[in-house]
Amino acid sequence: MMPRNLVAAALAASLVMLPQAEAQQPAAPTASEPAAAPGEPDLAKGKKAYQRYCSVCHGMRGEGALGPALQGISKRMTQEDITRQLMEPRGSMPKMYPTPIDDKIWADIRSYLMQLP
Ligand code: HEC
Repeated sequence: MMPRNLVAAALAASLVMLPQAEAQQPAAPTASEPAAAPGEPDLAKGKKAYQRYCSVCHGMRGEGALGPALQGISKRMTQEDITRQLMEPRGSMPKMYPTPIDDKIWADIRSYLMQLP
């Protein structure tokens, strides 16, 4: 009788513990999700997206065409200024935010722009 009760008690105790162990889980998995990490834009993706969406008017390397050159843009404009130009474009630049350029793609493009020589 006694051992059986002990086993049952141990089992019951472990079952009670389980939900708590699971409740503590969510904090860990987020660390392995690179896409969600803010401040870590993807330069290679940014270059691709730039060439796709912006190069028509600003040149393949930001040398300028229909639109002004974007080389050395980080010396003339802050990240906030550039983001404003994307969200509320001046002149004949089309509005491309939030589609097709969403926040994630924009973070990548912006990181590419900011390092243009
Ligand atoms: C259809 C052509 C066109 C496309 C596509 C375009 N732009 Fe522009 N962009 C312009 C023009 C024209 C201006 C100048 C606007 C003005 O001040 O009159 C401009 C201005 C800018 C400026 C300000 C530059 C400065 O020296 O003041 C930035 C930054 C910029 N564009 C970034 C981008 C980015 C990033 C993309 C791609 C997501 C993009 N543009 C796509 C035409 C375009």
